[in-house]
Amino acid sequence: MDFSIKACDWSKGEANGFLTGKSDVIVLGIFEAQTLTGAARVMDVATKGLISRVVKAGDMSGRAGTTLLVPEVTGIGASRVLLVGCGKQDAFNQKVYGEAVRAAWRVVLGSKIGQATFTLAQLPIQERTADWAVRAAILALRELTYKFTQMKSKPDNGARSLKKVVFSVDSADEKAAKVAVKQGVAIANGMDLTRDLGNLPPNVCTPTYLGQTAKKLGRDWKLKVEVLGQKQIEALNMGSFLSVAKGSVEPPQFIVMHYQGAGAAAKGKNAPIVLVGKGITFDSGGISIKPGEAMDEMKYDMCGAGSVFGTMRAVAEMGLKLNVIGVIPTCENMPAGNAVKPGDIITAMNGTTIEVLNTDAEGRLILCDALTYAERFKPAAVVDIATLTGACIIALGHHNTGLFSKDDALAGELLDASRDAVDPAWRLPLDEEYQDQLKSNFADVANIGGRPAGSVTAACFLSRFASNYPWAHLDIAGTAWKSGATKGATGRPVPLLSQFLIDRAGA
Ligand code: BES
Ligand code: MN
Ligand code: ZN
Repeated sequence: MDFSIKACDWSKGEANGFLTGKSDVIVLGIFEAQTLTGAARVMDVATKGLISRVVKAGDMSGRAGTTLLVPEVTGIGASRVLLVGCGKQDAFNQKVYGEAVRAAWRVVLGSKIGQATFTLAQLPIQERTADWAVRAAILALRELTYKFTQMKSKPDNGARSLKKVVFSVDSADEKAAKVAVKQGVAIANGMDLTRDLGNLPPNVCTPTYLGQTAKKLGRDWKLKVEVLGQKQIEALNMGSFLSVAKGSVEPPQFIVMHYQGAGAAAKGKNAPIVLVGKGITFDSGGISIKPGEAMDEMKYDMCGAGSVFGTMRAVAEMGLKLNVIGVIPTCENMPAGNAVKPGDIITAMNGTTIEVLNTDAEGRLILCDALTYAERFKPAAVVDIATLTGACIIALGHHNTGLFSKDDALAGELLDASRDAVDPAWRLPLDEEYQDQLKSNFADVANIGGRPAGSVTAACFLSRFASNYPWAHLDIAGTAWKSGATKGATGRPVPLLSQFLIDRAGA
């Protein structure tokens, strides 16, 4: 899909070639009980009052989310006009805009339209700029067109008509809008990668497969990639990570990907942001085995890792001027005669002894060693991303990602990014009081803290390994994938992470 920007100050009565330029549709926003303005007004004049007649006849009220495709239009270069209801102008916020945009794309994708001209990003959206609107529109379209067909024997990849979208924006917004196109496409490509990796079955998307994916990403995007195997992981003394991997015949991999968009890190300058992703390619629970219902969905237990891949890809494609390192511990969590057992005490890379009271609390066991490993990069910040706890779904449902951090500034940055990217997150507590729940009679710490505040005690466990740098933890158990009829990976939180890094890079 080709996206481009073309400036046009409709409000000054300009049309900058849009009246004569050929396209299959021009998408126009209509507010409720409002005289036509902007692009709609210019097009109305050019079509000799067609649009105002349609509105007057009551066929398009302007109600939010409604659409009317008017075919066989004459007088302008576009052969169709798509009118999109945008509600009351004084209530036109990002939510209404999002609904209008999705409604518009559904009609466009459902028709034989190859080229679309899109003018909605120019409408006055409360608290949002035109470049934000362009990016949101690209992401919405790419969300609607994503399909996972890799595993079908006869993939139904019915050729899509839509090939080209031109966004009109005011000339003052042209430059920012062009950057927004680049960002939107890069983030969408990153999300597609994250979704594909999540949706792949666990017999294909193994730790080895993720290692190969990292190497391919490195070749395609000039990242320095290291994939460590069993022996090298042993040499690093990652006893906690290895205890989880033990029960599986699939060998564990420890993946490190370096994106260097700024100068080499030195003397506190260009310190990298490190993203750590949980890469359990299948979580059976291990000896503390899970019940059978929906166990297939535990193939999604590598979505934290998937989001690190997707974000690294997006960052590289955007060419952000900062250094980012992706760290992924990946293995399966399986029951076996040699698997880790409840009661086992293991020693983490940093020397902490851990009593494994439940082998299903494995995410924290692989992440803790990755967090220790991250210290060597003297990071500006570390963010880990993990489908860590079912309790997070109980707390927040499927809308908000759980955010945990002791660092108010970092938490604030991530929350701002989540709002701007419309990839919501909600901060949960991480007070010292909760640490008591992790007491062990026999080791330094237990790997579970009981039922109360299960997501908080999981984060508390991680915090013990992340005290040497600014750190935040994202629990994406409720947001990384959808269940039911629309089962599939969402690509979250790639938008949040990308926005956070865009902001850090000052781009
Ligand atoms: N991967 C799961 C968390 C999970 C469960 C995410 C369901 C999404 C949906 C994690 O490894 C796990 O099993 N956590 C346990 C922790 C418990 C044993 C303390 C959980 O949440 O039940
Ligand atoms: Mn588990
Ligand atoms: Zn898990």
